[in-house]
Amino acid sequence: MKKVLVPVTALVLVTAAATWGAMQALTLPANLADFRHVGSLVIPDKASPLFGIHHFYLNDQGMAAFPNSGPYPEGTIFVGKVYEADDQEGALNEGKMRFYTYMEKSSKRSDTGGWLFAAFSPEGKLLDKDVKKECFDCHAPQKDADYVFSKALK
Ligand code: HEC
Repeated sequence: MKKVLVPVTALVLVTAAATWGAMQALTLPANLADFRHVGSLVIPDKASPLFGIHHFYLNDQGMAAFPNSGPYPEGTIFVGKVYEADDQEGALNEGKMRFYTYMEKSSKRSDTGGWLFAAFSPEGKLLDKDVKKECFDCHAPQKDADYVFSKALK
């Protein structure tokens, strides 16, 4: 019995390590400056984990699908830049950068709608998040728009 269990445990560990390794290797796109701004969102509630001014950017791969709200092709990436919302005498302006949000279309992520969800620190370090609970569950009702909230503005 032991002989069977050991390789199975080893396999599970190797798979878990490979998944964690792949996540660790995840970085912000090097060509982020080439992404197009497709929308913004302000969450003024300081108690919300998503407090701040969010600006959303989309890469070339997703651009053709954006006016129809998906479906998005493999390799589509949305990045959100999140700043503190500074109230300057009634005008909300970007303050300190808080974090980045990230969604990449990947057929390997069937448990989160075919998107890899992630968040990065302002320095670009991958943050440790339970993305299914902290991200996907809120995006899930957007299924008809391929789990994407942002829509082309008229
Ligand atoms: C409480 C709901 C909620 C949670 C939780 C949430 N989001 Fe979103 N997310 C939104 C909304 C609302 C928008 C876009 C609003 C708009 O401009 O239309 C959005 C937009 C985005 C976008 C741009 C693409 C799109 O869907 O419009 C990315 C990328 C993103 N979120 C990633 C994340 C990540 C990563 C997490 C977890 C760390 C997360 N979100 C958690 C509600 C949520």
